Amino acid sequence: MSGSNARLGILLSGRGSNFVAIAENIATGTLPGCAIAVVISNKADAPGLDAARARGLNSAVIEARGRKRVEHDAEIIACLREHSVDLICLAGYMRLLSAEFVRAFPNRILNIHPSLLPAFPGLDAQEQAFAYGVQVAGCTVHFVDEQLDHGVIVLQKVVPVLPGDDAHALSARILEQEHIAYSEAIARVLSGKYRVAGRRYVNA
Ligand code: GRF
Repeated sequence: MSGSNARLGILLSGRGSNFVAIAENIATGTLPGCAIAVVISNKADAPGLDAARARGLNSAVIEARGRKRVEHDAEIIACLREHSVDLICLAGYMRLLSAEFVRAFPNRILNIHPSLLPAFPGLDAQEQAFAYGVQVAGCTVHFVDEQLDHGVIVLQKVVPVLPGDDAHALSARILEQEHIAYSEAIARVLSGKYRVAGRRYVNA
């Protein structure tokens, strides 16, 4: 997958700020050697889709409503294949992937999660961390496996929890780092200069 023309497939469900950060980093040359081949949303009204269209990127809405997960995922897989995607980036994609989806792209699906995994998987991670009273928080970019927020960790960024913070302020501080971390993790993976040893991501 390394090389100068890696094709990214972005999956999102909402705001899309991580997608926009990736797109900006590609546009400015901060994240070289790749292009966004397609942006797919399971929600027709996702603001991230508007951002994709405004950038003139290929986009698709593939709604899940009333369909089995495997059928929905099969349609997404077909769309990703149609666009010859090399690496899939979940960017606020609020659906679990089927085992079939994960197996179709082994170690080729990344996710970003707003906590220092394995702490606080699942929804509202920043609120969970704040309520728990942690003194450092952060974000994790990881390969997606068949368990929620669980795969091999590619990169983490740490932020402090400061006096006077509330969950909102902490979320904003984490998000700022997410926007840096995701592109760094994509660059790492696209470089091919790593191996996976058990649960460990090891730079080669
Ligand atoms: C981010 O906090 C990300 O870590 C989590 O969902 C949120 C998506 O935000 N998986 P955005 O849509 O990228 O702005």
